[in-house]
Amino acid sequence: MPEIASRKHIECICQVTEHSMQQAGLTFDDMDAIAVTYAPGLVGALLVGVNYAKALAVALKKPLIAVHHIQAHIAANFIEQAELKPPFICLVASGGHCTIALVKDYAEYKTLAQTKDDAPGEAFDKVAKVLGLGYPGGPIIEQTAKQGDENAFSFPRVHFNDSFDFSFSGVKTAVINTLHKYRQNNQEIPIADFAASFQYAVCDVLSERLCKCAKYYGIENIALAGGVASNSLLREMTLSRAKKSNLNFYCPRGIFCTDNAAMIATRAFYDMQLKNHAGSDLNAIAMRELDA
Ligand code: KG4
Ligand code: ZN
Repeated sequence: MPEIASRKHIECICQVTEHSMQQAGLTFDDMDAIAVTYAPGLVGALLVGVNYAKALAVALKKPLIAVHHIQAHIAANFIEQAELKPPFICLVASGGHCTIALVKDYAEYKTLAQTKDDAPGEAFDKVAKVLGLGYPGGPIIEQTAKQGDENAFSFPRVHFNDSFDFSFSGVKTAVINTLHKYRQNNQEIPIADFAASFQYAVCDVLSERLCKCAKYYGIENIALAGGVASNSLLREMTLSRAKKSNLNFYCPRGIFCTDNAAMIATRAFYDMQLKNHAGSDLNAIAMRELDA
């Protein structure tokens, strides 16, 4: 409900900012610049942030920095892993995106692969919904999967021969169809087995594609980012595949994988060094490629 989301942003943005500043023990005077997400996303919600940030920047006479949300997810890797330096290859898996990016430099990116349909987080959320587990789906599926058998069902893994792109609509539909058959036959639903087998299928594809892509491009450092990167199985599977392929594996702590303000500030830090300030004509953009 985009309109409701935008209205909630209007209601909450001042309190959220003030509360965060109090928690951090900072005042507006301590800030060097105001960073704000301008793309991609729900444009109404983005506009609330962009306008609030513009007003703050003018009132405080501080530079305004425009941040691309996916670039910020990648930058979350720099918060606590100083040893990670570009170039590296990063998989961003979130509720709205699935992108493998070549991080050429701190402010230079190239998209190598993308999802052709659903994002993995979207699939986690949908599967959790049909299993009656609630929202957001990722953490609940991960928790529920602990009691399940990941080999109970063999859900599809999609690979394309001519690219490292992803597709998750098939695995989502396979779960829904299998579930439907159980319901039609009045069979008891092994919810944990569904969760475990689905999670395994998604993490298998994500970790396999990332490592293969890095090998193909001859890059030895790989990283994860985005909400789905907080998934323990994905982290374990990627680490184990990275070891076998002689790749160095990096991943932010869970709190820096799901959406957070620290990653926005971290991405902005590099544009601040380049004096890449946004103007007062900054606008929100619903769709914008990582390397546009
Ligand atoms: O990056 P994020 O916080 O927001 C977007 O930019 O989309 O990602 C949110 C997504 C949701 O779909 C959520 O279900 C998923 O990340 N997620 C997880 C886990 N924690 C969050 N997916 C799998 N396992 C998790 N532990
Ligand atoms: Zn995000």
